[in-house]
Amino acid sequence: MSDKAAPTVAQKGLQNIVVGQSKLSLVNGTEGKLIYAGYKIEDLAEHATFEEVIFLLWNLRLPHKDELETLRRQLAVQMHLSPELISIMKRLPVKATPMAVLRTVVSALSLWDPDADVNTPDENKRKARQLTAKVPTIVAAWERIRNGKAPIDPNPDLTLAANFLYMLKGEMPNEKEVAVMDAYLVLLSEHGMNASTFSARVTTSTLSDMYSAITTAIGTLKGAAHGGANEEAMRMFFEIGSANKVEKWFEDNVKTGKKRVMGMGHRVYKALDPRAAVLNKKAKEMAEATGNMQWYDLASKLEQTARADEDFIKKNLYANVDYYSAIALYTIGIPMDQFTPLFAIARIPGWSAHVIEQWADNRLIRPDVDYVGPMDLPWVPIEKR
Ligand SMILES: CC(C)(COP(=O)(O)OP(=O)(O)OC[C@H]1O[C@@H](n2cnc3c(N)ncnc32)[C@H](O)[C@@H]1OP(=O)(O)O)[C@@H](O)C(=O)NCCC(=O)NCCS
Repeated sequence: MSDKAAPTVAQKGLQNIVVGQSKLSLVNGTEGKLIYAGYKIEDLAEHATFEEVIFLLWNLRLPHKDELETLRRQLAVQMHLSPELISIMKRLPVKATPMAVLRTVVSALSLWDPDADVNTPDENKRKARQLTAKVPTIVAAWERIRNGKAPIDPNPDLTLAANFLYMLKGEMPNEKEVAVMDAYLVLLSEHGMNASTFSARVTTSTLSDMYSAITTAIGTLKGAAHGGANEEAMRMFFEIGSANKVEKWFEDNVKTGKKRVMGMGHRVYKALDPRAAVLNKKAKEMAEATGNMQWYDLASKLEQTARADEDFIKKNLYANVDYYSAIALYTIGIPMDQFTPLFAIARIPGWSAHVIEQWADNRLIRPDVDYVGPMDLPWVPIEKR
């Protein structure tokens, strides 16, 4: 008799399975609440900069003024990319998708780090800073390279949010754009045991390095059921075209089961995603500021149509973080296929904090599977099959 306990059949998709403990965030899907290390997401989105939240995630407390300035400077000096890395990026096919490029370049970064495989807490913190600082530069540089333009060096006096917009567009962003970008980065920086964070922790649990864990996470984020949904949401808004076409599109596509409303529904939230509520406000403010209400009005109408539908009510399907972030990002001029890389920029601090937390109390993550295939088949020589 085996001494192994009989496997229990897990919920498909590991729904409701608790895989460990974390001090980083609480996601309460029933009440639609999100808390980072004790602080409500609404307060952080309203008052904190991205750098303040990064400090919070890495230290589990808010920074004092001097600590915040030290972190800002540490990140600013790390933002530049080496000529070797830029030259690799210039040789990538211009049609490569930004997420595939990001996955490749983040992986390549490790090749120039002599301590890539040193996994002490200090080394992991250094790598977390380096990745948090360089990923915005990589994303912005790729946008320019693929459009035949020279990458722009980061400005060490700017914050991460402002720097990203500056390097992307080649001009100083205005205050409103930076505020929206900061709020977006704050809202997306951490989110419990989501798929990409879980994959980063699985990679770490094998004693692999920070770069491998973050590369894994980027690959997981890329999927349309996860980070890829913001781009898909914007494509869906384009496909619909205008608010007066929403109802017909919903009947023809969603009610017939042909399509899902991208940016709605969530594995954990069975109430409104609190991030969606903040981003709805930000998207509206940006739309009003730019005088282009077309996409906001359309999204708003589609949300109302979906929320009035009996299936959406019964299944508790609400707008998630990707729904209004698509509108907010599009309005500040972010190309659609850069939405998910932007999500990655926001999530690096959260992923790296989870990697560090995993190292602090690690055990190999290795679940079981319920084998349901045939047994005891007789061996048949190849010529007789
Ligand atoms: C996020 C998501 C993958 C969660 O999936 P999940 O918890 O595994 O839920 P399921 O895919 O099992 O869906 C449950 C039910 O709701 C329906 N549903 C879920 N999301 C839906 C959506 N966006 N539009 C229409 N129906 C949806 C499914 O069709 C399914 O219906 P059924 O029970 O009649 O078959 C899912 O809601 C989705 O695909 N949303 C769109 C993509 C998205 O926005 N992703 C970003 C998440 S932050």
